Amino acid sequence: MLAAGLAAFATGFPVALGVRCLLDPLRRKRRAPELFVRIANLSALPADGAPRRFPVLSERVNVWTKTRGVPVGAVFLRRLGEASVEAFNVVCPHAGCVVQVAAEGGGYLCPCHNSAFGLDGRIADPGSPSPRGLDALATELRHGEEVWVKFQNFRTGVRDQIPI
Ligand code: FES
Repeated sequence: MLAAGLAAFATGFPVALGVRCLLDPLRRKRRAPELFVRIANLSALPADGAPRRFPVLSERVNVWTKTRGVPVGAVFLRRLGEASVEAFNVVCPHAGCVVQVAAEGGGYLCPCHNSAFGLDGRIADPGSPSPRGLDALATELRHGEEVWVKFQNFRTGVRDQIPI
């Protein structure tokens, strides 16, 4: 009887520990996602205020794995001064196409239905089908050189900027 009890403990205890370890990530509370993402160094932006497009790489976490450097979108960055940067999401607020920097560099253009935006992100052509200007994103300059952006996507086809 004692031997049977010890045998049951010897096999059951490690199995129970293994199951507990396997299910542990499911028991943990989900961490709030990091809102600000490091995009580039300030020195990567032209001093004349010309916009540059940068990918947004973030961390993708599920209960068992964490993957770094996953592309989640892209932004336009533009230097406004010595220590000020403007950021726009590249997604067109009309229907979600990717906006491009206009050939002359004086603004942005969406190739899908020709929405035109000024460098400040506002609608430049009243005939543009986009219901609002480009979606501005909050920026932070950290350590004097690192440009961080609060990356978000927004609903398309509506006048208001509604995060999704
Ligand atoms: S998706 Fe950009 S103008 Fe329609």
